[in-house]
Amino acid sequence: MAPASFGGSRLPSHVAIIMDGNGRWAEMRGRDRAFGHLRGARIAKQTIETCAGLGLDQLTLYAFSTENWKRPRAEVSFLMLLLGRHMRKERLNLVRNNIRFSVIGDVSRLPAPVLEEVEKTMAATSACTGMSLTFALSYGGRQEIANAAKALALDVAAGRMSADDITEEALSSKLQTSHMPDPDLIIRTSGEFRLSNFMLWQAAYSELYVTETMWPDFEKAELLKAFEHFAKRERRFGCTKAQLEAGTTADEVTP
Ligand code: IPE
Ligand code: IPE
Ligand code: MG
Repeated sequence: MAPASFGGSRLPSHVAIIMDGNGRWAEMRGRDRAFGHLRGARIAKQTIETCAGLGLDQLTLYAFSTENWKRPRAEVSFLMLLLGRHMRKERLNLVRNNIRFSVIGDVSRLPAPVLEEVEKTMAATSACTGMSLTFALSYGGRQEIANAAKALALDVAAGRMSADDITEEALSSKLQTSHMPDPDLIIRTSGEFRLSNFMLWQAAYSELYVTETMWPDFEKAELLKAFEHFAKRERRFGCTKAQLEAGTTADEVTP
């Protein structure tokens, strides 16, 4: 399938977004943080529909980190409530838009009724063949890598593989993202230049785009701006520009 494009520009096939700034957006307006999260959920819905409409392959949204469990109980409860509600309300829309939904992260920590809504949405969309939408929920990149290392160690201990078989591919295959390509583009809103434990392994060669815009203000035009920036980037993957132009980047040379 030819890569999707808009206005003639090349689109990333996997976009991952660190949706940040809900709390500050609300506080700047003299409102409580929950107000920002509510508006943030609306922007998430809008973003999902825009990306699906543009024909993107994969969209991953960082919705709740492992570290976010440390937030005040009331905020965590509200975010969980919102997630459960979003799952229930959007299920049919996702199916209508042919979007397949899945999650990464330690979802066993989610409250049981919320997890149930998440699982129902995954089941309802399992036959969809359009964009793959992944929510990173209770997700931490370090935890994911540590779990992958543990799974490899168990395979070695059980004699299913030897330590010499531990390659980048073997480790990747034990990550929760094993079924998806690495993100081409990682967007972070709210002006913070950090990954906050998001896709640490998978981000090795992702293009990063940081905008000062807070997530609740990240309207469609902002998303398209990020895609325009991406289209202008030159991804060299360690090679030289000349090699890329000549299309001779396949072999590794030893001096
Ligand atoms: C992002 O907004 C949403 C989550 C992390 C769940 P924040 O809640 O982090 O908002 P700020 O960064 O405090 O403004
Ligand atoms: C990252 O945002 C996590 C999500 C967007 C879900 P945070 O607000 O938790 O990140 P820090 O604390 O500013 O690094
Ligand atoms: Mg934040």
